[in-house]
Amino acid sequence: MNSNPKLKGQSALVTGASSGIGKAVAIALANEGVNVVVNCSSHPERGQEVVDEIKSSGGTAIVYQADVSKEDEVQAMFAAMYKAFGTIDILVNNAGLQKDSAFVDMTLADWQKVIDVNLTGQFLCAREAAREFLRRGIVAERSVALGKIICMSSVHDMIPWSGHVNYASSKGGVMLFMKSIAQELAPHKIRVNSISPGAIKTRINASEMETQEEIDKILTLIPYNRIGEPEDIGKLAVWLASDDSDYITGATIYIDGGMTLFPGFAGNG
Ligand code: BGC
Repeated sequence: MNSNPKLKGQSALVTGASSGIGKAVAIALANEGVNVVVNCSSHPERGQEVVDEIKSSGGTAIVYQADVSKEDEVQAMFAAMYKAFGTIDILVNNAGLQKDSAFVDMTLADWQKVIDVNLTGQFLCAREAAREFLRRGIVAERSVALGKIICMSSVHDMIPWSGHVNYASSKGGVMLFMKSIAQELAPHKIRVNSISPGAIKTRINASEMETQEEIDKILTLIPYNRIGEPEDIGKLAVWLASDDSDYITGATIYIDGGMTLFPGFAGNG
């Protein structure tokens, strides 16, 4: 295990960590010696597999099933985390989903579900984490910051996305939610930042990448010419959680192989 003294002994909650980006972030943090709560909303057996993988590499983790959009479940999850690990140093607000449809056909239920999980879920978890950071105070041997919050956003917090209006609206909301709490919490030495991934190989977009033709179509949107791996995001999350990024707060970091560079304009539009 590659133990980084800068993160060793800290505790992190990663929401939506039973697969995809959340799983990679949970494993990357655990590899640095962080105690990790692997949250999942369904399929606790998949969360348990992530925990088993972490433990088999010598790390420490527990699984906790909770729906991040439900206040009582979120509060019970934080209580369980404090019982297991004592406190929280790092929150990774990762849980998110897509329920795609043409705008005119979008049901209120599909609009609401995506806003509830992707945006309200981030509010509920960040509020609990900030309350604990403020209650506990700085633990100088673990971090110079009082606490770190990482919000998983998307390139679609700035790229409009037809057919995915609920999702893009939720991520646009995450951007100003993140920046507003970053502004409010910075004087307390709580750092809040967003990671905004582009096309990363996970279940959320598996149906859009089934054939080579579909992959080639997505690659035309990515100047760097490769689909991202969940591990790309794990490495960035480790850095953003560590004191190496101590002067960064309120930032949105696009990790997208250049998707946000408007590649359609490369040949003068
Ligand atoms: C979405 C993916 C999509 C990517 C790039 C992500 O936020 O969840 O489905 O492939 O953005 O468009």
